[in-house]
Amino acid sequence: MSKDKSKDIEGIKKKWDKHAERYDQWYETFEGAVEHHVDWELLKGHLPQNKDAKILDAAGGTGRITLPLAKMGYRVTLCDISPEMLSVAREKLKREGVLDKVEILECNVCKLGFADESFDFVLCWDGGIEATKELIRVTKKGGRISVFLVNKCGTAISKFREDPHSALALLRTKSRYIYEDEEKHLAVGLEEARELFEKEGIKVIEIYAVCGWLEFLSIPEEVQESRSWDEKFFRQTTELLLALSKDPSVKGLSRHLVLYGERI
Ligand SMILES: C[S@@+](CC[C@H](N)C(=O)[O-])C[C@H]1O[C@@H](n2cnc3c(N)ncnc32)[C@H](O)[C@@H]1O
Repeated sequence: MSKDKSKDIEGIKKKWDKHAERYDQWYETFEGAVEHHVDWELLKGHLPQNKDAKILDAAGGTGRITLPLAKMGYRVTLCDISPEMLSVAREKLKREGVLDKVEILECNVCKLGFADESFDFVLCWDGGIEATKELIRVTKKGGRISVFLVNKCGTAISKFREDPHSALALLRTKSRYIYEDEEKHLAVGLEEARELFEKEGIKVIEIYAVCGWLEFLSIPEEVQESRSWDEKFFRQTTELLLALSKDPSVKGLSRHLVLYGERI
């Protein structure tokens, strides 16, 4: 593992502040809508049965996941380093009449100001693997955690054409920092991700492979970026991606992973 674990938090904050107004627009494209559908379908099966459960959406940005959770009746704490992303979230939650279900906080996911075991479900889709211990600390025993991870092999595949040197370097070590969208991420392998969470007292329930599949399907860019689409093709695409996300024989190929586990 690389020794340099530091992250440019100010840089990350500035980057997301700048993207805030446009962030949700990507989810209006075919590619974004497919990704959101798959994320949500996978998440639904892991949500607490009890609607009084407390959920933390860490690095939750514009509330893409907080909003539907609040609409379902959960009490959600949404935190993020970017005040602008949170401001977009606040407007959406207000517009949809669920602002009172959500606590919004500006903070770094690596330094959460919550007491130990504060939440029944902790979700962190982006924000970095460095936050793992902190996320686990605030999860109740018996509660669930969901973390977004950068997958080493899938990233090597997608990087190879533009940068064969770094793609190969990724495969030579156990885990390695990479730059993706101007941000530094620790890329891990599937088994390594499992070990990492199990070492910290998490029973891994499932690791899903998400993102990057459309490249393999050779779906033309104009279809991926389109804002209107054939519903039948959308359903077929999401059905395929949901099957691929769970299939052990192809999981290593995806660029990103989402791990679900239970704190024991
Ligand atoms: C790709 S967006 C994801 C937002 C949301 N989780 C989603 O799935 O739509 C990444 C978010 O992570 C936030 N973020 C990145 N590093 C963070 C950190 N260390 N602490 C808190 N938020 C962070 C960014 O500000 C941004 O809003």
